[in-house]
Amino acid sequence: MKIDGQLRTSIWYDRNKSCVSILDQTQLPFSIKYIDLTEVDHFITAIRTMQVRGAPLIGVTGAFGLAFALKENPSDMYIEEISFRIANARPTAVNLQWAVDEVLNAIKYVDTDSRFDIALRTAKKIRQDDIENCSLIGDYGLKIIQNLYDSISNKRTINILTHCNAGWLATIDWGTAIAPIYKAQEAGIPIHVWVDETRPRNQGTSLTAFELGQQGIAHTIIPDNTGGHLMQHGMVDLCIVGSDRTTTQGDVCNKIGTYLKALAAFDNNVPFYAALPCSTFDWSITDGIKEIPIEQRDAIEVTHMTGVNSDNIINTIRISPESSPVANYGFDVTPAKYITGIITEKGIFKANKDSLYQLKQQLGLS
Ligand code: MRU
Repeated sequence: MKIDGQLRTSIWYDRNKSCVSILDQTQLPFSIKYIDLTEVDHFITAIRTMQVRGAPLIGVTGAFGLAFALKENPSDMYIEEISFRIANARPTAVNLQWAVDEVLNAIKYVDTDSRFDIALRTAKKIRQDDIENCSLIGDYGLKIIQNLYDSISNKRTINILTHCNAGWLATIDWGTAIAPIYKAQEAGIPIHVWVDETRPRNQGTSLTAFELGQQGIAHTIIPDNTGGHLMQHGMVDLCIVGSDRTTTQGDVCNKIGTYLKALAAFDNNVPFYAALPCSTFDWSITDGIKEIPIEQRDAIEVTHMTGVNSDNIINTIRISPESSPVANYGFDVTPAKYITGIITEKGIFKANKDSLYQLKQQLGLS
């Protein structure tokens, strides 16, 4: 995808500098800054501070981080300790643990001298696979948008609501929830996106709006509480969101507030899809509400807001009374019963045990 007309990705291995470069998402949409990561602690900090964020992207970052850790110290004892630290840098998105496990499996029977090379190759493959998977998610999701468009007699613009950022910035390219929108644009279907601001960190306002604008897709930022009203007035044709962890019965854990959008969609007969790569499935759990660990983040994300002042200087200001306590849950779980379908790189599945068991079989996991 593009920034200022130039093709960009969120993370890549820079062979000349022997480092991993990332687009620093904490600076968006105000400035475009890239950071070079060379030590494992840089990777962990980038994930924790959300310089990189979004489930697939933190998975890829974790995989590269583990490779760089092995460059420093390939011993068995260190691998165990460091892979635990990386996988727990953020607790909810299962892609991080999945990607760390992929690297660990790849180096299982490899002598210490070759571990870095094999781990790096594996991380690059995870990155490349993510691009291909997101493109396929886009192709499958496009079918849903195309069918909707074909069913509308006056061929008007299709209005899609999304929450948080599940676009190319949350992955490597294309995105998950936004990939079908990019594919629809290519197919010439007129699209307009309602972008939930996504408090407290405003990933909708600062990231989704940014990337849609850069790609020339019509969009409108809305306060988080607006979606229900729009749906009641027929102004939303479809909701598509991403996921950080999906269970065997089809419960979807995504950015806090997703659940309320799904309830509003259900009440108003608006189709509600989750788009995700298969690495987002946690095949070990069934009940998302009981079993998914929900990240709680620093109160400052709620009590303060960051933006640019009239001199274009980035500033953080407090918006709450100094002494008020804060709860900052990063994610919530949308039960399967509110989800119309799950769009993956393997096709579109129903959010229920039988349908997802078929997917598990297709993946050779059962
Ligand atoms: O806290 P974030 O910004 O990492 O949360 C991201 C989301 O909730 C995304 O919707 C999810 O990771 C899917 S990304 C394709």
